[in-house]
Amino acid sequence: MIQIPSKIQKIIGNEKYIIDNVGMSGSSVYVFEDKVLKIQAAGSESENEYLMMKWLQGKLLIPEVLAYEKDDSKSYLLMSRISGAMACDDYYMKAPELLTDLLAKAIHMLWEVDISDCPSIINLDKKLEMARYNVEHDLVDMENVQPDTFGGDGFKNPKELLEWLIENRPEEDLVLSHGDLCLPNIFFMGKDVSGFIDLGKICIADRYQDIALCYRSLSNNFKGIYGRAACEGLDTDKFFEKLDVKPDWKKIRYYILLDELF
Ligand SMILES: Nc1ncnc2c1ncn2[C@@H]1O[C@H](COP(=O)(O)OP(=O)(O)O)[C@@H](O)[C@H]1O
Ligand SMILES: [Mg+2]
Repeated sequence: MIQIPSKIQKIIGNEKYIIDNVGMSGSSVYVFEDKVLKIQAAGSESENEYLMMKWLQGKLLIPEVLAYEKDDSKSYLLMSRISGAMACDDYYMKAPELLTDLLAKAIHMLWEVDISDCPSIINLDKKLEMARYNVEHDLVDMENVQPDTFGGDGFKNPKELLEWLIENRPEEDLVLSHGDLCLPNIFFMGKDVSGFIDLGKICIADRYQDIALCYRSLSNNFKGIYGRAACEGLDTDKFFEKLDVKPDWKKIRYYILLDELF
């Protein structure tokens, strides 16, 4: 393993680990029997992850923070390992009824958290400011966008998309939002939700931030994008019924498009 702070090294000793390559954020994740070490670039996201994980202990099913250290360039988060399997595990992909039940349940768990003293708010003003920074500094990951966002009938470039997002901003309905609610970031154990991981973007935001990204991840996983075989039996109408939400497609499109700039 690479060099890690001695305080964390002391806790993990010589325990065996495997390296997890699922994430797409450039972080390094070492999975031990009952712990996980996530090493990522130090910055606002890793700070938010630590701060919010501390605030959310006992309020939401998330890993326990065992240690947190940082140096000039990296942050080191040692946390408990969530048991069970990712929502995109074959077992759940082959049981779409159970999968959509559990996803709806997970989203409701987020919405039930009392946000009155939540330390992290990323409302749309702030999010659009962050998007502008990414556009102006050429940080938009064009390899990782939906195929119809740019070119053809889509937007000319990220700058044009940003302008559209500023002109078409919807009303906000604020709740606790995971911020990157894709299937690999939600864990299930049998017929229960066992936890949320990857909490760098968790904050107060519009309800549709999570509805939109969860819907996109669910649909894309069933279509067989992300290098897996396509699966059958997904009924997205049922997903919305279980969520008890009448889908606002304008907002879903808006939040999927907004995510293209991150
Ligand atoms: N606390 C945890 N418990 C169990 N698995 C974890 C935990 N943290 C990370 N993982 C595994 O590592 C993967 C990547 O971690 P994640 O925090 O999602 O990083 P990224 O930001 O790169 O997506 C996850 O999809 C999951 O498989
Ligand atoms: Mg992840």
